Amino acid sequence: MGYAPETLEMMEEIRRLKREKRAVILAHNYQVPEVQDVADFVGDSLGLSRKAREVDADIIVFCGVHFMAETAKILNPEKKVLLPDLEAGCSLADSITAEDVRRWKAEHPDALVVGYINTTAEVKAECDVCVTSSNAVEVVQRLPEDREILFLPDMFLGAFVARKTGRKIHIWPGECHVHARLGFRTIRQAQAAHPEATLLVHPECGCSTSCMYFAEEGSLGARVQILSTGGMIRYASESPDRTFLVATEVGILHPLRKHAPDKTFIPVDAEAICPYMKTITLEKVLRSLTDEVYEIHVDPEVRERALQAIERMLEVNV
Ligand code: 13P
Ligand code: SF4
Repeated sequence: MGYAPETLEMMEEIRRLKREKRAVILAHNYQVPEVQDVADFVGDSLGLSRKAREVDADIIVFCGVHFMAETAKILNPEKKVLLPDLEAGCSLADSITAEDVRRWKAEHPDALVVGYINTTAEVKAECDVCVTSSNAVEVVQRLPEDREILFLPDMFLGAFVARKTGRKIHIWPGECHVHARLGFRTIRQAQAAHPEATLLVHPECGCSTSCMYFAEEGSLGARVQILSTGGMIRYASESPDRTFLVATEVGILHPLRKHAPDKTFIPVDAEAICPYMKTITLEKVLRSLTDEVYEIHVDPEVRERALQAIERMLEVNV
């Protein structure tokens, strides 16, 4: 990508500081291109969790949102984990508190609690097992059949998992404001304009349940894949298909085009932009490394319990 000279200079300074401070940069697929291009590893929530656990550096600069940096700290507590901007939150993670989970559990005392990784450490500490969009189906499939399941906080991912596994699941009514707007009407309009395209849909999308239903019925008139962001990159790189309609946050277009430069990727909604992911800029990454801000801390007792839920997820090899 052709960056301006000032941008290239800043990237060089970031690389120099990384070496000097023995730091690594982990970035999510929704980060702005220049941040992804200066990172040591770019991936989805599952890939980033695995990477955070094995990183052998003194500092992890996490270019993503708060719950992701917190997960890195939980998995690798000896490291200094930095988030370049504390405003990088998540509307989905904000849709449930630990107190909400405790109250819900009290209503279903025998249930197992499955928590999406998009939650705070305190919420994870109340869960039996975590999931990401890459492994939610496989993790839930392995839960004992006689147990009730509480799934939180994303209702679209929850409905997707319930349909795929055939399990009876109680679902928390949370949503991500970026993905909820990607409804079935928007998909239909995009498909009408690009009937040849294969459809890649993130399971957090408002349309995911309808897409799955119509795809199974065979009436969607196109190939449809419901995947995590990492799954989309793998699928698009390996598939013989040439054109893809992409239903998720638009940051994904950069790694998709990087991994499959000869293919065409069209966003279903070019305004599907996560303001939290976009608070992280190259300037803030540079400041984060220079001043070692903002350090993420997790209460040790909360960490211990949250770690169990994350570890149970990581044991499932997907
Ligand atoms: P992925 O794990 O698929 O990258 O999703 C993370 C996320 O926050 C989706 O909005
Ligand atoms: Fe959270 Fe949605 Fe942004 Fe993902 S896209 S970080 S779920 S607000």
